[in-house]
Amino acid sequence: MLSAEKNRILTQVGPGTPMGDYLRRYWQPIGGASELDNNPIKPMRLFGEDLVLYKDLGGTYGLIDRHCPHRRADLSYGFVEQTGIRCNYHGWLMDQRGNVIEQPYDDTVNPRGKARERCLAKAYPVKECAGLLFAYMGPQPVPELPVWEPFTWENGFREVVISDIPCNWFQCQENSCDPVHFEWMHENWNVRLNGQTAPYAAKHLKLVFEEFEYGHVYKRVREGQKDGDPVWTIGRVTLWPNGFYLGNHFEWRVPIDDENTLSVCWFFMRVPKGREPYVQDKVPTWVSPIKDESGRWISSHVINQDIIAWVGQGTIADRTKENLGASDLGIAMMRKRLFEELDAVAKGAEPKGTVRSANLAKCIELPNITKQTSTEGITLEEYPKHPLLNARLKGFRHCFGQPPEVRKAFCDAMGIKP
Ligand code: FES
Ligand SMILES: [Fe+2]
Repeated sequence: MLSAEKNRILTQVGPGTPMGDYLRRYWQPIGGASELDNNPIKPMRLFGEDLVLYKDLGGTYGLIDRHCPHRRADLSYGFVEQTGIRCNYHGWLMDQRGNVIEQPYDDTVNPRGKARERCLAKAYPVKECAGLLFAYMGPQPVPELPVWEPFTWENGFREVVISDIPCNWFQCQENSCDPVHFEWMHENWNVRLNGQTAPYAAKHLKLVFEEFEYGHVYKRVREGQKDGDPVWTIGRVTLWPNGFYLGNHFEWRVPIDDENTLSVCWFFMRVPKGREPYVQDKVPTWVSPIKDESGRWISSHVINQDIIAWVGQGTIADRTKENLGASDLGIAMMRKRLFEELDAVAKGAEPKGTVRSANLAKCIELPNITKQTSTEGITLEEYPKHPLLNARLKGFRHCFGQPPEVRKAFCDAMGIKP
């Protein structure tokens, strides 16, 4: 149970809030680069700010205030130029740093005027990596963008999946440090969703949560588990401060505002042995729907099931009414660390895991149970026998609604029939 005050601190993410300001100190994934292929401008709301993300004709990304610095028109109706985004109202042109670089009428009648130097639009840097776009919305100096090792893997099919989730970010992130839910929400509930009442999955018998530089690791022992199983010896990664890493996929929970979260997931699947070299020409991005036609949450896919837990806790979970149990040690640990971090950063410390060395940032390894399958691959014949990858070729089981063209591209890469 938390006090109302602590719950407020964890969940409020708008400008000027301690948690919002803290999370802004990390490069946040805000979507897939291929989202801008058909329409180079996307309105976005992040940390309670209305913004536009764009890619100009020169290929530069920008994330700037949605309202034009002239008279506040909506730049999501603007158009991109070789450099920058132009407002459709009077044609002012802004670059990715927020500089006004053209004011067509003023420039004509007052060519030596300096007025435009005074009107800077709010702007944040954007970087592309492995098909994802990351934005940095925090204070200077900008830290390095950490390139997690999986982003450097080759010979694989990558895809980005996004969804808007109508609830606060932190209940989504708490789910990243909650191993027992896997047994119930994904395994046992699936048994029931399939119309059966048995057999239920192996019980969790023991949990350990450990902190490391880039987050926490949870390790588990389940009934029937062999000694030396990597789920106990290596574990799974709760990526600090708002991510989850599962060996060949990442999930991030990025605050849109207090009541909405952008879910950004990145997936990698190595091609079977013998199909190298495989070079993916474009990383697809798709939106996974979370509700069915009748307005109920979709329950058929793993992440959709998680989403049912998140939104089910309320728009902003009321932690004054909860009762934590033995399975929640990781959650308590994460909350405690967040409060410690808020205090430390307020006193001038670097936020946990911030990377300042360009050399280190080039490739950062994380604990990974299945690394070999992603870096060396397995043969097509080995897939059905593989405990973690056996279902992966049959269909995309993480998020509902993979478009047929993405499935086709995946199957072409893997050398299987759609
Ligand atoms: S409001 Fe944008 S150019 Fe006038
Ligand atoms: Fe889950």
